[in-house]
Amino acid sequence: MKKSARFRQILLSDSTEYLMEAHSGLSAQIVEDAGFACIWGSGLALSSSLGLRDANEASWTQLLEILEFMSDATSIPILVDADTGYGNFNNVRRLVKKLEQRNIAAVCIEDKIFPKTNSLINGSSQQLANIDEFSGKIKAAKDVQLDDDFSVVARVEALIAGKGMGEALRRAEAYRRAGADAILIHSKLSEPDEVLTFMREWHNRCPVVLVPTTYFKTPVKVFEQAGASVIIWANHTLRASIRAMQKTVGMIYRQRSVSNVQEHIVSLKDVFALQNLDELQDAEAKYLPRQTDSN
Ligand code: SPV
Ligand code: MG
Repeated sequence: MKKSARFRQILLSDSTEYLMEAHSGLSAQIVEDAGFACIWGSGLALSSSLGLRDANEASWTQLLEILEFMSDATSIPILVDADTGYGNFNNVRRLVKKLEQRNIAAVCIEDKIFPKTNSLINGSSQQLANIDEFSGKIKAAKDVQLDDDFSVVARVEALIAGKGMGEALRRAEAYRRAGADAILIHSKLSEPDEVLTFMREWHNRCPVVLVPTTYFKTPVKVFEQAGASVIIWANHTLRASIRAMQKTVGMIYRQRSVSNVQEHIVSLKDVFALQNLDELQDAEAKYLPRQTDSN
């Protein structure tokens, strides 16, 4: 099945599906190997892994290069976090074209202003896009896609910006009418109350995506019962790897030895297995000339 068709199935199915963040070919593979059905190409994680801030410091084509590695390394779909779409409707059109060429299943764009600011930064001011301008971006994305199964997720930042439930619902409806395949409703509260209120009022007009980064203590059953289509674990692969790298690198620096870290790190055999080295060795046997004495 095409990755885009698989993502569409995930969006439209009655059950709740879980997406896991990845930010490189390797982390994408690890997400697939763990059993996840889909990858979240997180803007925060991608930029952090480049040593940059989640503020559009990396260009969209630099991100595209990494997304291509992620897509090539996996067989599950990727939902790309494309921030505000890196410009106006015209930039979004070009973005969708290039994502489709790289076998990316879906894109999520948020109704803020370029350059964006991460939604969870304490005290950050979050300026919302004009509702009609953002609706035009959604419409342009849907009009330009060549593959009917490619999905566009509209991310509503009204709650993040403190504009209230009425504004969130008004925006979500405008984006749905513009052709969005799903609405991502984002919140930075530690309780899920506002996203649950949104879902009650939304009445499943189209699939809803949630990102329980701050309200992680709520059991997922609550979101499943509320009818969430997709739950995104948005940055935990990155955060796990930062912790692991800091711990190991610090230990090696202090001890001037790698002896004590062996039990905390994977073996080289595991690294080669992740690279699917067996396949290359089989191919070498098949395609390279046999070594003989006359060589
Ligand atoms: C991301 O993972 O980059 C997101 C989710 O956009 S958040 O960081 O919560 O804004
Ligand atoms: Mg992001």
